[in-house]
Amino acid sequence: MRDGQNSVIYRADYQAPAYWIDTVDLCFDLDPAKTRVLNKMKLRRNADVAPQPLRLDGEELNLSRVLVNGQGTSFKIDGGQLVLENLPEGDQPFELEIFTTCAPVKNTKLMGLYVSNDSFFTQCEAEGFRRITYFLDRPDVMASYTVTLRADKARYPVLLSNGNLVDQGKLDDGRHFARWVDPFRKPSYLFALVAGQLVCREQRITSRAGKEHLLQVYVRPGDLDKTEHAMNALMDSVAWDEARFGLSLDLERFMIVATSDFNMGAMENKGLNIFNTKYVLASQATATDTDFSNIESVVGHEYFHNWTGNRVTCRDWFQLSLKEGLTVFRDQEFSQDLAGEASARAVKRIEDVRVLRTAQFPEDAGPMAHPVRPDQYLEINNFYTVTVYEKGAEVVRMMQTLVGREGFARGMTLYFERHDGHAVTCDDFAQAIADANPGSQFEQLLPQFKRWYSQAGTPRVTAVTQYDEPTGEYRLTLSQSCPPTPGQEHKEPFVIPIGLGLLAADGSELTSRMHVLTQASETLTFPGIDGEPVPSILRGFSAPVILEHAYTDAQLLTLLAHDTDPFNRWEAGQRLAVNRALAFMGQQAMPASDIRLDQPYIEAMRSILRHPTLDSAFKELVLTLPAETYLGEQLQEVDPQRVHAVREAMRQQLAQQLQADWQCAFETNSDTGGYVPDPVSCGRRALAGMALTHLCLAARSGAHSAGPGQPDVWPGKAYQRFKDAANMTDRFNALSALVISGNELAAPALQKFHALFKDEPLVLDKWFALQAGQPDRGGNVLPAVKQLMNHPDFNIRNPNRARSVIFSYCSANPGAFHRPDAAGYVFWSERVLELDPINPQVAARLARALDRWKKLVEPLRSAAREAIARVAAKPDLSNDVREVVTRALAD
Ligand code: TRP
Ligand code: ZN
Repeated sequence: MRDGQNSVIYRADYQAPAYWIDTVDLCFDLDPAKTRVLNKMKLRRNADVAPQPLRLDGEELNLSRVLVNGQGTSFKIDGGQLVLENLPEGDQPFELEIFTTCAPVKNTKLMGLYVSNDSFFTQCEAEGFRRITYFLDRPDVMASYTVTLRADKARYPVLLSNGNLVDQGKLDDGRHFARWVDPFRKPSYLFALVAGQLVCREQRITSRAGKEHLLQVYVRPGDLDKTEHAMNALMDSVAWDEARFGLSLDLERFMIVATSDFNMGAMENKGLNIFNTKYVLASQATATDTDFSNIESVVGHEYFHNWTGNRVTCRDWFQLSLKEGLTVFRDQEFSQDLAGEASARAVKRIEDVRVLRTAQFPEDAGPMAHPVRPDQYLEINNFYTVTVYEKGAEVVRMMQTLVGREGFARGMTLYFERHDGHAVTCDDFAQAIADANPGSQFEQLLPQFKRWYSQAGTPRVTAVTQYDEPTGEYRLTLSQSCPPTPGQEHKEPFVIPIGLGLLAADGSELTSRMHVLTQASETLTFPGIDGEPVPSILRGFSAPVILEHAYTDAQLLTLLAHDTDPFNRWEAGQRLAVNRALAFMGQQAMPASDIRLDQPYIEAMRSILRHPTLDSAFKELVLTLPAETYLGEQLQEVDPQRVHAVREAMRQQLAQQLQADWQCAFETNSDTGGYVPDPVSCGRRALAGMALTHLCLAARSGAHSAGPGQPDVWPGKAYQRFKDAANMTDRFNALSALVISGNELAAPALQKFHALFKDEPLVLDKWFALQAGQPDRGGNVLPAVKQLMNHPDFNIRNPNRARSVIFSYCSANPGAFHRPDAAGYVFWSERVLELDPINPQVAARLARALDRWKKLVEPLRSAAREAIARVAAKPDLSNDVREVVTRALAD
């Protein structure tokens, strides 16, 4: 085990730093094998803290010199830290000079300074800066940085760091240098440098305030034609933050750089965002509509961090949601505002909720459950979670719901007035929102509301209704509870905003309002209701809770057909599907092939599909059955293969029963003209793709049940569309239709696809992922995955590629992964152990694939436990993986 890295960190133990670092002057001599780093800092004691030695964090550094005020000094290394005990007394600032070297080319963890495609990149969040130099590597130490980069000019012509370029020139031996000064103080996790052969797209813009800025997107030569969309997204982001929150770009120059080796999506380094290529590069030939929309969100997200994260940062890493929850909320709002129309906004909202429910709810119910503001961690990298990000965003969204859009904007303004340039806490944020809305209900409820930050677990809200015919009084009782989570047995009631509406039996809306549930149970009374209404509860998904209500099919059909709230309209369709799936799964003895969907459900789906005015995007969402993981969460005990079989059988039924309607949907949506990734055409392509998949599925059955057309022609049509498609969305959807339906044309299509895109890494990722994620047919996927790992294009060291094969199988293909022979689990444990020494962050994400093992049916449960125990037994595990498997095994 590595020194000093084995202990749990507690939020309650926070102490201010014993020293401040005011300025940092870094000089890099960049060399892949041995980069030399000279770090000159000005420090002073923090007068508020008892005098103590200076302890600087460091990791995998070779230390060659330490000078204090220009003089040699004694020091020791303790638990990886550099400890200086004989520092000048008093509060006079002193200079500390540290000279170290590191080996970027050997850095497979992709934290700190590393090499990718012969270029240098850094990733410092959360604790990567200590892999570059000794430092107080904590976010509450904010310093002014000057950075000098020196490197071979031919090999590394572009030299970038945060802030403004103040000097550059030639050096001897074909080398050159560049000096950058960041005008803003920042924590070390926002430091960045990039050096290499890069080209850029540039755009000059003038802000509302009349200031000029230079925007740049740097990529490898050859990728420049794929940067237009990212640049547009960046310009939209700048304009949006000014318009919606009055926050403008504070730098003369704002750069985005793309790299194909990256642990996460992107990083908001001040003025120099570094992105995974996946979230920058897009052309209609290589990127799908989903890619285009993800790029828009992630470019927005990182840009919005410039204020929410960078100008105001986190006091400590327990406050991570202060920047991440808020910034996700902002990027979600940005995408909604760009989508424009109400229905397109609703589609975005449904997509976001789907992520929350399929990924965050299981996290909240599993061994890694933690509050939005965690209380402890072993490895902070493990807490970049859907809870901190997406649930954190829901918490911010509830604040906006409770104080209104304007009240929220006032709160943001006050937040920046108070905390600009500082490192603060989640409490500070909530307080600013409350203080900007004096006398509001939110202000009064603030202490209780903040339980959203401290209590883990997904609250359950149960709704019970009672209608009194003679008096016309309708009563709605809402009760809340929250299950225990690790370390939190008992929960106090939350503040839960609940959007409510009542529909008459004919679907017309009787009333609507927002109710704020604060007690364990409350009863609302609606007088004068003529006939038992249909309740529409939790409209817009107004809180991150599980709503339990015994809706009848008739009520759900009414909501699906008539609710004015598009979210609940979609939700009604999902509930209808969940109820059916649960019923089928209850009938253990029934083979999936005998499953028949009832006519009322089929007719409801048909009327959505045929609806004259609904958007195609919305139709596609309604017709998509709930995900296997979501269905699994509804069960006490899960047999993932049964869940898969039932869901596939339901899909097969929809394919056959709605065949004529799918054909019509395909024909009316298949031509979207010149490629534009706007919500309307994206929705049409999505629905056409879905229709094609169902038509290919119907062809498989050979059941020519409904209406016109020969189903067997569809695989051929799909193949043709695959070949002729003018954009990646249509092409990939056609390919998926063949793969999903298990058609024999899938093999030649996959081969052709590889040949066409062998030089496009991001497209190859899709090719790998599609095969590793395909529906299992008699256990064929695992052997296919093993073969893919032997493919010359596979490289486990590249996170995108590792994810496209290993994660697509272990985390995104439950029907194929949870094999009764446990071979999937053996594969998983081998890959976790193989990845761990290479890249612990990626390994730990993979380790989470078995989080929910306790819910599995036997013999899967025992087999999964064994596989986790095998990983846990390995000596020298990283903190990252050790924390995940230890928590998984705890009871
Ligand atoms: N702060 C980044 C974001 O925008 C997250 C991130 C990027 C990150 N790279 C990382 C976190 C590496 C930990 C490690 O959300
Ligand atoms: Zn972020």
